[in-house]
This record gives sequence, C-alpha cells and structure tokens, in this order.
Amino acid sequence: MIIAIDGPAGAGKSTISKLVAKELQFQYVDTGAMYRAITLHFLDQGISPEDAAGQAANLRASIEMNGHQIVFNGRDVSREIRSLEVNQAVSAYAAIPAIRVFLVSLQRQIGKDQDIVVDGRDIGTYVFPEAEVKIFLTASVEVRAKRRFDEMRAKGEDVEWADIVENIRERDRIDSEREMAPLKKADDAVEVDTSDLTIQEVVDCILDLIQSKKRAEVQS
Ligand code: CDP
Repeated sequence: MIIAIDGPAGAGKSTISKLVAKELQFQYVDTGAMYRAITLHFLDQGISPEDAAGQAANLRASIEMNGHQIVFNGRDVSREIRSLEVNQAVSAYAAIPAIRVFLVSLQRQIGKDQDIVVDGRDIGTYVFPEAEVKIFLTASVEVRAKRRFDEMRAKGEDVEWADIVENIRERDRIDSEREMAPLKKADDAVEVDTSDLTIQEVVDCILDLIQSKKRAEVQS
C-alpha cells in the first residue's frame, strides 16, 4: 500500500509521515531529503543549477536512506542537507527535469514491493498516481515559517525570521511554477489544513482516512 503525503514547505509532512509510518509499520520515504542531498552535492562542487542542468543526465549517485539517516555516495549528509544554504538552493535544482527523472525512478523502485508512507510535492500527482491514499497537507505561511524557525533555532542555527518567511514563499513559488511535476494537490487527494491542529490530531485524521479506505476496499 502507498500513502502519498504532499504539500508545501513546512506543512508538517515529514513529522506526520514518520508518525503515520510508525503506527502502520510501513517504511517512511522522505523524497525531499533526496532532492536536498543532490543539491548539497552540486553546491559542494560549486556547480550552479544552470550548469547542473547540463550535467544531470549523466548523474550517477548512490542514495541510501534508513530512518533519519541519508547517505549520499557513501557520505552521511543527514545533518548538512537541512542547512539554510540547502533550503535556499534546493528548489532551483529540484526544477531540473533530469534530476527529477533520476530521483523519481529511485522512488518508484523503493515503492515497488513494500508498503510505504512517502512525502514530497509530486507524489500523488506524478510519482505514484495510483497511491491508495493521498493527503495534501497545508498551513498558512506564518504557521509554516514559525515551525521551520523554531526547528532551526532548536538545532542551534542562527536564522532570521525574515529569511525563513522569504525562503518558504520563494520555495512555494518555484515548486508550484516549475514545468515538470509541480507542487499541486491531486484531484483525488484529501486536503488537511494543519494550521490549528496538533500533530496528533493530524495523524489521527490520516489514520482514520486510511481505515475508511481499507473498509471501502473490503466491501467492494
Ligand atoms: O521539509 P520541507 O517541506 O521544507 O522540504 P522537503 O520536503 O525537504 O523538500 C525540499 C525541496 O525539495 C522542496 O522545496 C522541493 O523543491 C523539492 N522537492 C520536490 O521537488 N519534489 C519532491 N517530491 C520533494 C521535494
């Protein structure tokens, strides 16, 4: 079974997806972490998105994910991919079609023969349009920025409120406007606005949706 959880930056996708996966004993797949790891790889080499577009067709990279850890070409990048620098660059690299083709094929491979909860931007629309359950998580820009601000401050990063708001808005814009597989609610996704809900309320709401989906399948 595939549970697709899409939505804009800071809507709570990863926190919620991890908890839902744990509850169901499904594998959690963080596709944003994959785009972040590729971004870090190009940033480290000083390759701009424009130049990366030319090189990405020959991209050979090994990406291993288990739990909280992401290992890119043998290197644990779990922490580095959450930096403000990566936050600011990731949407530009994620708009490059060859990078998306590479990662989408990896994501489909992972989902081929196991139950997964997978979060991203294009999961319900493009990566797994056949997913049994599709959720689109949203929240106001202020709430999303506050969550990201608190998260980064708690990690000891010296971030400014204005920069976080700007980053969230800019990523939403680039992610929604890109040509290939933009951020968009799938027609058959259930939209959940998390602005005024606790984490547990959102998790419970999703688990309820999954249960009713399962019941409907048994009856049909
Ligand atoms: O956690 P947050 O919502 O801030 O972002 P993320 O899920 O880690 O994704 C980081 C970036 O990767 C997004 O802003 C998108 O540009 C890109 N992304 C994408 O294009 N498609 C996906 N399926 C997942 C992420």
